[in-house]
Amino acid sequence: MIEKERRKEILSQGKPEVAWPGEPLLGGYYGEEEIDTVVRTIRESMDWKVGFGFICKEIEEFEKAFADYCGAADSVSINGAGTGLDMAMMCLDLEPGDEVIVPAINFKASAMSVFGQGGQVVWGEVDPKTFQLDPSDVERKLTPRTRAIYPTHMNGLSAPIDDYLEIAEKHPHPKHGPPKVIGDAARACGGGYKGTKIGKKGMMTVFSFHTQKNMTTLGEGGGITTDDPEVAKKCRALRQFGGGIGWGTNYKMTKVQAAVGLVQLKKLDEMLEGRRRVAHERNEFLADVPELELPIEPEDCWHTYYLYTILVPKNWAGEKRDRVVQIMSEEYNIRLCIANPPVYDSVPVLREHTAGQQCPLSDELGKRIFCPTMHPTLTTEENEYLCAALIEAVERVREEG
Ligand SMILES: Cc1ncc(COP(=O)(O)O)c(C=O)c1O
Repeated sequence: MIEKERRKEILSQGKPEVAWPGEPLLGGYYGEEEIDTVVRTIRESMDWKVGFGFICKEIEEFEKAFADYCGAADSVSINGAGTGLDMAMMCLDLEPGDEVIVPAINFKASAMSVFGQGGQVVWGEVDPKTFQLDPSDVERKLTPRTRAIYPTHMNGLSAPIDDYLEIAEKHPHPKHGPPKVIGDAARACGGGYKGTKIGKKGMMTVFSFHTQKNMTTLGEGGGITTDDPEVAKKCRALRQFGGGIGWGTNYKMTKVQAAVGLVQLKKLDEMLEGRRRVAHERNEFLADVPELELPIEPEDCWHTYYLYTILVPKNWAGEKRDRVVQIMSEEYNIRLCIANPPVYDSVPVLREHTAGQQCPLSDELGKRIFCPTMHPTLTTEENEYLCAALIEAVERVREEG
């Protein structure tokens, strides 16, 4: 913990002029190499016999490099993770009443994809230590209609994929066999699990290269990894007007994005090491603050710390957590993000779709969770300022009683 005297000294230097966002608008960093790559790719495309696409050397090289990075047999580049999640549900050919288990503490995209493809969302609770879909709750929620277990690798940490795969084997669907395990790794590109990278296990894994993510392809973009050649073929067909085998439309990434993706991928580990340094320093700065439960890294995982997820105690749920958020913003110019409350709280159409389902633990966690600014380039001094401010805010709320 940063002691009182030291906190005073740090905070006396004043707050940042521009507010620090909870989830920064650029998750990684760009340099001259990305700029040179964009310019070179445009120059090469200016020849009317060459142009910008569409499936070209840059796309093929990026897909090969991304698959190799994740240790997967194949990867398919697309225009965003939301699209990839829709494609995952299209691969299942859901019929009305087919159920898919989705963590309630989550971003809305995966549940939207189930709903959009005519399936039934079944909310699962998360493990309150890791924020990952809880395998024991999956086991409770499985029915003979369950088609897929759909974890999100929440906030940069891997979900326990082997546990879901084992459960799926034990509960085969009468027609389709074991429910598929599909990962939403939008926030966890580069994370590790049991000696593999996220993206190796399960039917397929979906990644985001949106501007806020661990790496970005000019602000939008996504990728799918899979070891199943049939899934890869189907995804390529969906991406490009059916590829002669069925329905499809245009979900493609552009050539310039793929070229930049190759550069970002080479920097990814370095950018993740930056996040890990910030997280490890933060663990020290915030250690022993009794009201703050800090993120953990299970032994078999390599956390990317897309977000640094903190919990306040149960008796601080709601009002007192919100007061910490308010003090941080008003007095220290640091925005804390709430990532994430239960999806059904903020998406009326999904609340209606899942009416009657209860997730009491998620309801409580949604009122206790918050994430302070995380970025790989935060300096030790900036990190220390944030932590000093957070300890002050917590002490103030403690004194307010
Ligand atoms: C967990 C999760 N899934 C999916 C998405 C959607 O990603 P994209 O913006 O690439 O469609 C996001 C992005 O914010 C996300 O955080």
